[in-house]
Amino acid sequence: VRYGEEEVRRGSGGETHQVTGGGRPPLTTRQGIVVADDQNSLRAGDRGPALLEDFHLREKLFHFDHERIPERVVHARGYGAHGFFETYESLADITSADLFQRAGERTPAFVRFSTVAGNKGSADLARDVRGFAVKLYTQAGNWDLVGNNMPVFFIQDALKFPDLVHAAKQEPDRGFPQAQTAHDNFWDFASLMPESTHMLLWAMSDRAIPRSLRFMEGFGVHTFRLVNADGRSTYVKFHWKPKAGMQSVVWNEAVKLIGADPDFHRRDLWDAIGAGDLPEWELGLQLFDDDFADAFPFDVLDPTKLIPEEDVPIRRVGRLVLDRVVDNFFAETEQVAFCTQNIVPGIDFTNDPLLQGRNFSYLDTQLKRLGGPNFTQLPINAPKCPMATFQRDGHMATDVPTGRANYEPNSWPGEEGGPREDPEHGFRSHAEAVAGEKRRVRAELFADHYSQARQFYLSQTEVEQAHIAAAFTFELSKVERVDIRRRMVAGLRNVDEGLAQQVCDGLGLGELPEALPAARARVDDLKPSPALSLLRN
Ligand code: HEM
Repeated sequence: VRYGEEEVRRGSGGETHQVTGGGRPPLTTRQGIVVADDQNSLRAGDRGPALLEDFHLREKLFHFDHERIPERVVHARGYGAHGFFETYESLADITSADLFQRAGERTPAFVRFSTVAGNKGSADLARDVRGFAVKLYTQAGNWDLVGNNMPVFFIQDALKFPDLVHAAKQEPDRGFPQAQTAHDNFWDFASLMPESTHMLLWAMSDRAIPRSLRFMEGFGVHTFRLVNADGRSTYVKFHWKPKAGMQSVVWNEAVKLIGADPDFHRRDLWDAIGAGDLPEWELGLQLFDDDFADAFPFDVLDPTKLIPEEDVPIRRVGRLVLDRVVDNFFAETEQVAFCTQNIVPGIDFTNDPLLQGRNFSYLDTQLKRLGGPNFTQLPINAPKCPMATFQRDGHMATDVPTGRANYEPNSWPGEEGGPREDPEHGFRSHAEAVAGEKRRVRAELFADHYSQARQFYLSQTEVEQAHIAAAFTFELSKVERVDIRRRMVAGLRNVDEGLAQQVCDGLGLGELPEALPAARARVDDLKPSPALSLLRN
């Protein structure tokens, strides 16, 4: 039989055999054995039992049985694309990071966007934070900027991350809801954690239901350091500013899209890149020094606080362009491993207690998710610059190291001896002076949980404020326990009385509950920041 170009043979039972020819290679096993028949397993007689001897059947089923790997414990649902970062001007005065030295230099990049709480099969338009993880394959090693589309976070200390995620994911007994924040456990936890208030305001804002991944901002969240060749450190907050501007849907649209097309965001990104409408962001830096940090009313190490753009303007230093979809979703988007610890000379951490915990967590989880210590050898994770280590062996090693020595110091000559330290170009941590008692304690400057939440709320237009009130009301209306609803409204009184009253009325709670006690007085003279509103930008 001919099906168009192709010759198809019929087997004895009428089954279809597509045979090699016309330039199509023969089908083989993983060992390279050419397969003669991929329709029938080996049997004793036409209608007899299958034979254990059938290596093709066994290999095919074995491999299929192991196709799934654990999904990410958070940010399970994501979508990635390739691109490049282009530096506008040399930043040699503030950082020695190789990718920022030469104007016009292009660095290959891979970006994965994600939702946080939903499982891998959940819907794109869920109300949620979006991950914005960027891997930059620089000539001095891989730098991962593992950020979100909101500039602050729910918690201040990594010790609380497992609790936050347990509360936000589906409830352990019933296994739902899979993707929404609308449930008792999440709001129970949130209402007992005043430090989450600022981020909750963002999560109830229009930013949590972006129209497209292309129209979102990105933020590194933590304060990092840039360090120049003289060892001088400058604090930095990283921003991604979408060239196309910001857009969100309204909740009504989100609900319809979740039903009509759960893949709405990934389809949009795939189609845009395919059509040549390349998504683009500018990298913005907020740079400041110790004097600014000391005078700032909050601790710059507190990831629940942002630095208003009015106080420290954003300097745009380059652009990120996504110009190529993946060849294979699993090999690239699923197997990519971002890690805050992947940092290059010229950039350094601060003591933000959330960042310090993250630096442990990513590598740790990837050891399990990607099946051993050698996932750095996968093409999507491997650096694109020279790389040489004495790390050896382990599950799934694909590198074939050469040379005699697998240890150092060693006295083997030349290539036999392997790589050596490079004191001049190697990574050195910023020599920050550290002193103090070893204690479990939080700095007092971390204790004002409401001022910036209020500043954010007041920065919104009337329409956006109404959306925030509606989102709190809707989400809390799904909470069965009235005491949780009341505690949440009691916390909102410290943000804005009008907002608390609207949510209280919307939920039919009657009298406003007494405001939760605030751990530290609110800074009331913070000015609303137009940069925080989506509609004004
Ligand atoms: C993914 C831990 C806070 C952004 C992950 C993963 C873990 C994790 C275990 C899964 C990684 C994988 O399987 O490859 C933590 C911990 C945190 C924390 C312990 C706090 C202590 C944050 C914050 C941000 C963030 C503050 C944003 C600034 C992301 C992103 C991903 C991710 C974007 C997805 C990366 C990807 O696309 O593969 N996180 N996280 N996380 N996290 Fe965090």
